[in-house]
Amino acid sequence: MTALTACGTGTGTEEQTPTGAGTANSDLGPTSAIPVGGGRIFVEQDVVVTQPDRGQFKAFTATCTHQGCIVGTVKDGLIICPCHGSRYSITDGSVVQGPAPSPLAELAIDVSGGKITLA
Ligand code: FES
Repeated sequence: MTALTACGTGTGTEEQTPTGAGTANSDLGPTSAIPVGGGRIFVEQDVVVTQPDRGQFKAFTATCTHQGCIVGTVKDGLIICPCHGSRYSITDGSVVQGPAPSPLAELAIDVSGGKITLA
């Protein structure tokens, strides 16, 4: 059995573990997988990556600020939570439609060589 360190319910504000040798979990795949005007949800990493305009990539937490569901769909410029229908902007994570009380927190990413990684 492989001993995985707790991939817990990420409430942490510390993003980086200084001891991490292989941080495969920060890999968010190729930029080509993110549609322009849409995005992609990475459930394991609790991240939603969007491309509001061609070549402009953003990342937000994928946990809805209403009751903590993982957002389910990204389309038409919106990140949509399936639980109670909250909608967020793919540009800045702001609430477009409630009941979500606050925006999705933006996450820092690096984009280079056609690859996206959590910064
Ligand atoms: S948990 Fe997302 S809308 Fe309620």
